[in-house]
Amino acid sequence: MGFKNCEAEGFEDLASVEAAALLHDIGRGHTDNERQHGEVGAEIAKNYLKENGFFNDDEVTDICNAIRYHCTNRKGEGMLLDILRDADKLDLSGAIGIWRVMISKYFLSYSPDDNLRGETWQMGAADFDKRFDAGIGPGEYIVDEINFCISCYDNFATETAKSIATPFCGVYEGVYRTNRKGGTVI
Ligand SMILES: [Fe+2]
Repeated sequence: MGFKNCEAEGFEDLASVEAAALLHDIGRGHTDNERQHGEVGAEIAKNYLKENGFFNDDEVTDICNAIRYHCTNRKGEGMLLDILRDADKLDLSGAIGIWRVMISKYFLSYSPDDNLRGETWQMGAADFDKRFDAGIGPGEYIVDEINFCISCYDNFATETAKSIATPFCGVYEGVYRTNRKGGTVI
């Protein structure tokens, strides 16, 4: 997905994209705090890349920067980060994201009996950030996880990612997106 995004966005440093893509989650398993796996992974990747001499110092800095911030909503840190994060987040979008949630959260109830949309309905990426920072997480129901996946759309930086994600978000187009633009919830 990252390469596809590179081509469409005119980004030519495919070697750095490949390195960032392969190493972006290397911090998982090295920290108990999911929110810190980018930071931890960036340090591991820096040591690995410097030891092996595959890239010059500037390239290592860019790759590690992308790894450090790939799971944040930080903007303006360069195209490599934008491409990596968008490729990563596309995995959570639409049909694929919903399917992943259904499989990985099968043990949760779909929604509260009295609120099929869940308490996180229409929350944006910034709202979910606050929940994660407060240790609340997305929520205790499958629908909260799906609402979180949809909120990731807010932070796509590249037009390519937006155009890929939009059809997949079609399931919610009539209710969720329409309402965000000021329409009426069906
Ligand atoms: Fe990650």
